[in-house]
Amino acid sequence: MNSQGNVSRPDNHPENDKVIEVSHLTKDFNGITAVDNISFTVQEGDIFAFLGPNGAGKSTAIKILTTILRPTAGKIVVNGCDVIKDEHRVRESIGVVFQEHTLDTELTAYENLYYHCVLYKVPRKERKDRIETMLNHIGLWERRNHLVKTFSGGMKRRVEIVRGLLHYPRILILDEPTSGLDAQTRFFLWNHIEEVNSEYKVTIFLTSHNLEEIEKVSRHTAIIDKGRILSIGSNQEIMEKTRTGSLEKAFLEITGYSIRN
Ligand SMILES: Nc1ncnc2c1ncn2[C@@H]1O[C@H](COP(=O)(O)OP(=O)(O)O)[C@@H](O)[C@H]1O
Ligand SMILES: [Mg+2]
Repeated sequence: MNSQGNVSRPDNHPENDKVIEVSHLTKDFNGITAVDNISFTVQEGDIFAFLGPNGAGKSTAIKILTTILRPTAGKIVVNGCDVIKDEHRVRESIGVVFQEHTLDTELTAYENLYYHCVLYKVPRKERKDRIETMLNHIGLWERRNHLVKTFSGGMKRRVEIVRGLLHYPRILILDEPTSGLDAQTRFFLWNHIEEVNSEYKVTIFLTSHNLEEIEKVSRHTAIIDKGRILSIGSNQEIMEKTRTGSLEKAFLEITGYSIRN
């Protein structure tokens, strides 16, 4: 993968190294409060996770951070830009992997990535090199001219993750990136994400309901349920606050033992 050294930063990027600042975010859907007055910040270079059961509000929060949905209330600043007033600059500075697959399955892997380069204004002369490097990195260069509809779920996920990085974003945002993947692909993805974070200083914001993965990869976690943040801090801090020895125990203590639908 190429160096991230030429990432262009918004002029008004935050001096305090907070790349995500969320204050009193609320989202209602016709009377259902999916996100209920949450506030948190993410520091540059962090690996930060939302951990919560189904229906907690994780995807809704991600869609607001990535400018897909508008908040009902609250202020959200990503890379120094307001998600409502400056949505284009927010989009330029983030890479996103949504919970659902979003590749065009009637196009090839190469075409999907090329299309992203065009949308994100990657300089024309750099497009092929970037795509080749990324596809080699995920072991799919040989399959570049195959239609995505012939790919397994894991292959699609790998392509989606490198697509999110093609325009050299400062933040990579991933919503349940490993759900439905086999152990080998999960292992590959976490290594890749950790490498992008440590080598290229890309801040990672992700959601999951997989406790073991969060325990391994995230440095700071917000436990979220019914639209609210119930605990936030390093995994160690969360365990200490609940006087438990594992994140799983802490999670159950905080969110309760009842089964969700
Ligand atoms: N477009 C929508 N219209 C109505 N309700 C929604 C919509 N999207 C999400 N919800 C509701 O908001 C709540 C949070 O959903 P979601 O953010 O998808 O949770 P999670 O990603 O944590 O599983 C759920 O009760 C869900 O049914
Ligand atoms: Mg979700």
